[in-house]
Amino acid sequence: MAKVQLFAPTFRIDECLAEIRECLEKGWTGIGFKTVEIEEKWKEYTDLPHAHFVNSATSGLHLAVKILKDKYHWDSESEVISTPLTFVSTNHAIKYENLKITFADVDQYMCLDPADVEKKINANTRAVVFVGIGGNTGSLEQIAAICAKHQLKLIIDAAHMAGTRCHGVTPGKDWADAIVYSYQAVKNLPTADSGMLCFKEEEFDAAARRLSWLGINKDTYSRTGSKGAYKWKYEVDELGYKYHGNSIMAAMALVQLKYLDADNAYRRQIAGWYDQAFAGALHVRPVPVAAGCESSRHAYMIRVGNRDELLLALNECEIYPGVHYRDNTEYKMYDYASGSCPNARAASLELLSLPLHLRLTRKDIEDIAKQVIAYAK
Ligand SMILES: Cc1ncc(COP(=O)(O)O)c(C=O)c1O
Repeated sequence: MAKVQLFAPTFRIDECLAEIRECLEKGWTGIGFKTVEIEEKWKEYTDLPHAHFVNSATSGLHLAVKILKDKYHWDSESEVISTPLTFVSTNHAIKYENLKITFADVDQYMCLDPADVEKKINANTRAVVFVGIGGNTGSLEQIAAICAKHQLKLIIDAAHMAGTRCHGVTPGKDWADAIVYSYQAVKNLPTADSGMLCFKEEEFDAAARRLSWLGINKDTYSRTGSKGAYKWKYEVDELGYKYHGNSIMAAMALVQLKYLDADNAYRRQIAGWYDQAFAGALHVRPVPVAAGCESSRHAYMIRVGNRDELLLALNECEIYPGVHYRDNTEYKMYDYASGSCPNARAASLELLSLPLHLRLTRKDIEDIAKQVIAYAK
């Protein structure tokens, strides 16, 4: 079969170009009318109270951790519970702030296991970072209840979750202190690089706006609206970063957002075709989606006993799957926790993410599944 990649974004090119053209014609490509518009549209779409457009989910996660740490005076003894089965951005964001990561294990959804999270809470625990891997909400509701019980802050790394709903609602809307989305090049809402940081509290949203713009208390766009001799003047009270999003990325996001629900519906259709093909297949174990979760289906993950062998065999057929993820405690940076999460370690040797994108047809999925079944052990 023709080469099949794991991910391949679909851009509505003419519409994206028209939106970008508007930025170029108006001569405004930085923070501006489009970044404001995507924030408003994202709030409408998710029903979240605040949304701040940033240059990546990595930046958004860093700000989420930093702002909560500063507000609640977490010291270097403070611990944050996180998952070893994630892209390193999740855990780096915690380390940027010199907080200790306590890794908790994953459950059958490949998301944090509530029982292990509860076991790993101690007097220094301050927060939990939950990753909705592949768009799955896993046991998020139970994790949120544990956070409430132990007065821990909850951050959701929703990099894969653009468009996921749980019982019809944006997951974490009522429970999470911060939810961070990625609009990176191959995510469900692809731009080139950008993301959205959604705090529950207005105060934190305001802090995120200052800190994503070097700690300056007024961005250039709001300053152009003000009148008088002092419109150039601003205050800098804290050390911020250059993390804000720009209007070109916002222009692309505005177009892609219009298609997000339809795109995700097709992704769920693809997942359904894989499910059908693997029903009864002895050696292929699809990772289940939690009950009540309408997943964005960023990824379709299976577990097999001979992952590396299968991956090579599929490559021979021009099928290029991926792996989400290597157990982070195998990395030198995090190997102090090696062995602390046996389920994640075992899963990371068996997991394979099959091609899932909008250009694939039912026939493609059936052909891929046939090869998977033929080689899986
Ligand atoms: C789970 C997870 N978290 C965070 C990120 C970081 O997103 P970004 O590339 O927008 O910084 C990614 C991106 O791959 C991810 O998969």
